[in-house]
Amino acid sequence: MNINETLENTRVSYRNADFDINTCNPNPQTQFDKWFKDAVNSNCDEPNAFVLSTIEQNKPRARVVLLKGIHQGCFAFYTNYNSSKGKEVTDNCHVSMTFLWLPLQRQVRIEGTLGKIGASFSDEYFQKRPRGSQIGAIASPQSQKVSSRQELEKLFNDTEVKYSGQSELERPLHWGGYLIKPSYFEFWQGRENRMHDRIIYENHAGGWMLSRLAP
Ligand SMILES: Cc1cc2nc3c(=O)[nH]c(=O)nc-3n(C[C@H](O)[C@H](O)[C@H](O)COP(=O)(O)O)c2cc1C
Repeated sequence: MNINETLENTRVSYRNADFDINTCNPNPQTQFDKWFKDAVNSNCDEPNAFVLSTIEQNKPRARVVLLKGIHQGCFAFYTNYNSSKGKEVTDNCHVSMTFLWLPLQRQVRIEGTLGKIGASFSDEYFQKRPRGSQIGAIASPQSQKVSSRQELEKLFNDTEVKYSGQSELERPLHWGGYLIKPSYFEFWQGRENRMHDRIIYENHAGGWMLSRLAP
């Protein structure tokens, strides 16, 4: 297989649906809920996975995390506060989220600012996680260099042994949630001939202004 030939010849035609400023919901959160439900119903793999982009000094950085709740219009995800992303958002709270739902030929981009979620939310969510994930969150120094897979497994096993007599594990302070407060949404629906539909919502003085962008 010649990879460049394959890349040049890979062409998908988008013709599932259309999306118009007159038919979308005037509230972007309601529109997001609708598209998210469509993604769940269309059997998209991990429909709650999104690319979280952050800024480190002036450079962009991105990785996938999971959306774990929407509270009063803000999007929640959980992670290690000492991770690279944790440090990046401490320095610059501006982030973007990108959802990709390929079976629906849809993308949603959201921009906003982020802050830590209340400790009680983090505690509550931590308690709902399987014990193995809890041990992993306690044991793993996320984003730090480790010498080998063995070192990582030793960290996990040592933590498992340390807490073996404890039925309920306490959330470690280095792990918890963030809430992203959106100020911009873009809903993208793939269309034929690359003439895609793009509807944006911009927050102005607490209200949402809708516009269409060229593809
Ligand atoms: C499908 C998927 C879901 C993920 N979900 C999370 C998550 O919810 N929280 C998290 O910290 N990392 C998650 N990760 C791992 C991150 O992509 C990333 O490797 C990790 O958070 C370290 O990122 P950082 O070094 O930029 O901080 C997920 C990865 C994938 C592929």
